Amino acid sequence: MELDREDELVLNGEFGETRRMMMEILVTLGKVFDAERMVPIRSAQVSGASYKTIGEYGLQWIRGLDARAAVPAILNPVGMDRDRWREMGISPEFAKKQVEVISAYERLGIRLDCTCTPYYLTITQYGDHISWSESSAVAYSNSVIGARTNREGGPSALAAAIIGKTPYYGLHIVANRKPGLVIDVDGAGAHDASWYGALGYIAGKEAGNRIPYFRGIRPDRDQLKALGAAMAASGAVALFHVEGITPDSRVFSYDPKGLETIPVEQKEISDLYKDIPVDAVAIGCPHCSPDELGAIAHLLEGKHVKKPLYVFTSKAVAGNSRSFVEIIERSGARVYADTCMVVSPCMDSYLAVMVNSGKAFTYVPNMCGAASRIGTLEECINVACS
Ligand code: F3S
Repeated sequence: MELDREDELVLNGEFGETRRMMMEILVTLGKVFDAERMVPIRSAQVSGASYKTIGEYGLQWIRGLDARAAVPAILNPVGMDRDRWREMGISPEFAKKQVEVISAYERLGIRLDCTCTPYYLTITQYGDHISWSESSAVAYSNSVIGARTNREGGPSALAAAIIGKTPYYGLHIVANRKPGLVIDVDGAGAHDASWYGALGYIAGKEAGNRIPYFRGIRPDRDQLKALGAAMAASGAVALFHVEGITPDSRVFSYDPKGLETIPVEQKEISDLYKDIPVDAVAIGCPHCSPDELGAIAHLLEGKHVKKPLYVFTSKAVAGNSRSFVEIIERSGARVYADTCMVVSPCMDSYLAVMVNSGKAFTYVPNMCGAASRIGTLEECINVACS
């Protein structure tokens, strides 16, 4: 792998042990995937931020690092709302450890926006090389924005943040961004984001790590977010195309002839909507956009929740949508920032959780030990209020 003079010096330890170690991570990754060179990145997004997921070993590893990010870098959601953790029922012991993790990242120059939707906060444009690690953000940035990132792990995204470069392989190379299978969807009728989450749940299992090319659907941006997040969770999809909608599908004329084609019928999707009893409802996987907060506020106005209803978003989006947040909280629901239903221990005491997200539908059973039920946003609000 070709390195420039400065990269060689970094690898030789001339700029400190942490930068040497970070360069070694990137070079090793590059060698494994036959990268010929490094490519400068515009931004990084670093997962592995919740003490629930990284534990003591992860905390000690991050604490031992001593360098600063060379490019704008944003942290993934952590295990609690940094201001309202007591209200979430988080134990002081967990909170103390979580604060230590956050401080360790802050010392490395990582922005503490703590969100899986960094695309609402950073300027990321078509063709930008980036190094993001949260799988739903990877799917969105590659597919909806047309930026270029592989599905990084927390350490490799952190290494890229500190070095400001990443190995040039995989989805950074245009030739590797062609579809690997076609998914023909019976998409007739109007659908909400949960329907796209359910479709993504099915499609991700079929696609694995291939690049799907969808025909028959016309999702908006929030629905694309739901679709990509679900496929990244039930499969390992890092990029998808939707005919006539996503930028690469319009820039390159892909010829799907000869590719495996998988049909998805409406019944397969509707079969996922099961009416099981739940004891909590959680919305905001990935973190809610301003429009999604507006839709929740509209549905909750003048109502009172009878079951715990959690809404997750980033602090920045919540701050810019104060009037929606006030309406939602007046109903008794809670809008928490910095965290989510999966990476926080706050959902671990429930037996069954209703969500409107294909990703949360996949992860809640394993990560929270609760059964998951998927429903539309309207159904989620009705269940929370009944
Ligand atoms: Fe984001 Fe948590 Fe879902 S990190 S994508 S809200 S599992």
